[in-house]
Amino acid sequence: MTTALTGIKPTGTVHVGNYLGMYRPALALAERFDARYFIADYHALTTVRDPDELRRLTIEVAAGWLALGLDADRHVFYRQSDLPEVFELAWILGCSTAKGLLNRAHAYKDAVDDNVAAGRLPDDGINAGLYDYPVLMAADILLFDTDVVPVGGDQRQHLEITRDIAGAFNAVFGEVLKLPDAHIEKEVEVVPGLDGRKMSKSYDNVIPIFAAPEELRKLVMRVVTDSRPPDEPKDPETNNIFNLYRHVAPGDDVARMRQGLAQGGLGYGEAKQMLFEALDATFAKARRRYEELMTDVAGLEEVLADGARRARALAQPVLQRVRDAIGAGPRLA
Ligand code: ADP
Ligand code: TRP
Repeated sequence: MTTALTGIKPTGTVHVGNYLGMYRPALALAERFDARYFIADYHALTTVRDPDELRRLTIEVAAGWLALGLDADRHVFYRQSDLPEVFELAWILGCSTAKGLLNRAHAYKDAVDDNVAAGRLPDDGINAGLYDYPVLMAADILLFDTDVVPVGGDQRQHLEITRDIAGAFNAVFGEVLKLPDAHIEKEVEVVPGLDGRKMSKSYDNVIPIFAAPEELRKLVMRVVTDSRPPDEPKDPETNNIFNLYRHVAPGDDVARMRQGLAQGGLGYGEAKQMLFEALDATFAKARRRYEELMTDVAGLEEVLADGARRARALAQPVLQRVRDAIGAGPRLA
C-alpha cells in the first residue's frame, strides 16, 4: 500500500493557504493511501519559545486535522516529539548530509541574506536548529518508507534535500532508505494572501479557516484591490479576490465571477461578499467541529497518544534496518 506522509508546524493559526496547498490534497490522498500525518512540534521549536504556547498551538493543530476530517482510527496521527525514533534517525542522517547542502537551503539562506542586508554578521541570531531543519524533516519522512508527501510549493526544496540525503546514505550503506516524491498541486502551489503575496503567517496576510463569521468577513474586506469602479472590466487572473474564490466556490459561481469581472459590472464590494460566503460555506461545518473538539483537550491528547504508539510500532523496524546497516548495536542474527 502506498504511504502518504506530511507534517505541519504548530506555529500559528491554520489558514486558507495551508488548507488549499496541504490539508485538502493530503485528505484526498488519505482516501486512497495509508496516511501518517503529524504535528511537527520540534520543528516549531526553532521559533516558538513559550512552552504554554507550544502546547496550545499543538492542540489547535490536532483539533484542526480532525475537524477537517482526518480519520485517526484508519490512519496514523501523532505528535513528532512523542517519537524518539525520529531524533535518532535525524542524527544518523546528519552524518550523511553534506554541510553545503544545508548552506543552500532557502530558509537558512534567507535568514543570512536578511542579516547581511541589515549589516549584521551572516549567522547572527540563527540557531543550529534552523540550519538542521531539513535533516529533521528528512528523518520524519524516511522513517516511514514514505512514498508521497503532500505539501505546498514552498516545501519543494525540502523534498529534494530529503531525496539527496537518502541517496547519499544509500550510496554508502546500500538500498536501505526509500526515496519519496513530493505531491504538489499546481493550481494551489502558492495561494495568495490578503495582499496578493503568498499567504503566510510570516506576512500577517492570512485568512484563518476557523475564524468566526464576523472576523472572516472583516478579513475578506481587507483583500487588496485597485480602485477601479464596478463597471470597468478587470483582469480576473490578477485579481486577489478571484484568485482565492476560484479555489473555494462551485464551478458555476467561479465562471460567474470571472465573467462579471472581465466584462465589467461586478464591483469589488460584491465580489468580496461572494468570497466571504464561499469561505464561510466551505469551513462552517469544520469550524463547528473544531470548536467542539477544543472543549476536550484530554480527548485530543488520547488520540495523539494512541497515534504515537502506532507510529512507533511502524517506525521501529525501519530504524532497526538503518541501525543494522550502519553497525549500531550488536549484529542481530
Ligand atoms: P506558513 O508559511 O504560514 O508558516 P507553514 O509553513 O506552516 O505555513 O505551512 C504548512 C503547509 O502549508 C506546508 O505544506 C506549506 O507548503 C503549505 N502552505 C503554506 N502556505 C501556503 C500557501 N500560501 N499556498 C500553498 N501552500 C501553503
Ligand atoms: N517543513 C514543513 C513546513 O514548514 C513541516 C514539516 C516538517 C513537514 N516535517 C515534515 C512536511 C515532513 C512534510 C513532511 O510546512
